[in-house]
Amino acid sequence: MDWGLQNRIAQIIKPTDNRALMLAVDHGYFLGPTEKLEVPRKAISPLLKHCDSLMLTRGVQRTSVNPKFPTPIVLRVSGGSSIIGADLSNEEITVSIKDAIRLNACALAMSIFVGSKYEKQTIVNLGKLVSEAEEFGIPVLAVTAVGKEIGQKDARYLSLACRIAAEQGAHIVKTYYCKNFEKVVESCPVPIIIAGGKKIPERDALELAYNSIKSGAVGVDMGRNIWQSDNPVPMIRAVRAIVHGNSNVNDAFTLYQKLCKEKPVKNSLVKQKIKNIQPKKQNNIQPKKQNNIQPKKQNR
Ligand code: R5P
Repeated sequence: MDWGLQNRIAQIIKPTDNRALMLAVDHGYFLGPTEKLEVPRKAISPLLKHCDSLMLTRGVQRTSVNPKFPTPIVLRVSGGSSIIGADLSNEEITVSIKDAIRLNACALAMSIFVGSKYEKQTIVNLGKLVSEAEEFGIPVLAVTAVGKEIGQKDARYLSLACRIAAEQGAHIVKTYYCKNFEKVVESCPVPIIIAGGKKIPERDALELAYNSIKSGAVGVDMGRNIWQSDNPVPMIRAVRAIVHGNSNVNDAFTLYQKLCKEKPVKNSLVKQKIKNIQPKKQNNIQPKKQNNIQPKKQNR
């Protein structure tokens, strides 16, 4: 595997523990102003420092994320349908590789809709995107989307969809958790990350994250269960405790409750972080005058 590809994957799946905590905020690409994500910057800013990578569209990246933040970007590059349109599966690739590079994406994300009217189109698009992205050492994350259907999320269907994504060359697959999830993981030769799905009570969402990882997922790419929570920062920190801290559900939920009681840090954490990443005056490392090594005048 090329150095660039490996390095970009390592920004998403941390090599220290082979785990990933992604924050998904790409919902607007077909849902418009989703509840609690109406003003993307407001939702994203306090969470940025707690995730390993951020999944979004180029529009939200450019308008709502401070470019001085070092958070790696997983850029959604597919779209073309809306929740009120005829068929959600009718997606195409909407972002050029050039623009993805300009935006410093560390991975490209797109959906495939296995079993839908447009499955061929989305699967062929995945294959083409992988070929193009690999030329530049950029990994592709394939999302096994289920459209408006919710009855299809069983291990048999998800194993099929994940395996097809991997066979087309996806470097990471994002899918849904289900009963017998180990089977989905077992038959998919690339790392699997799970989506959180619809908002559920915090403890249940933590349990979902815990069970996914226990069954072999390398991490989560959660959205609604974090920023639709009444306490998004405590929630992402509790999810983090599961993903990177090996916490069990009880410990993570206790942490969540404890953090909820704590006074929120005054104003936005973003300002604080930006301040921290400003280059400091480093007087002590300024090159000193080294008179003794100046070439001496040679009078001869
Ligand atoms: C859906 O297609 C989007 O890619 C979302 O990023 C994904 O569903 C994860 O978000 P959530 O945890 O809200 O399901």
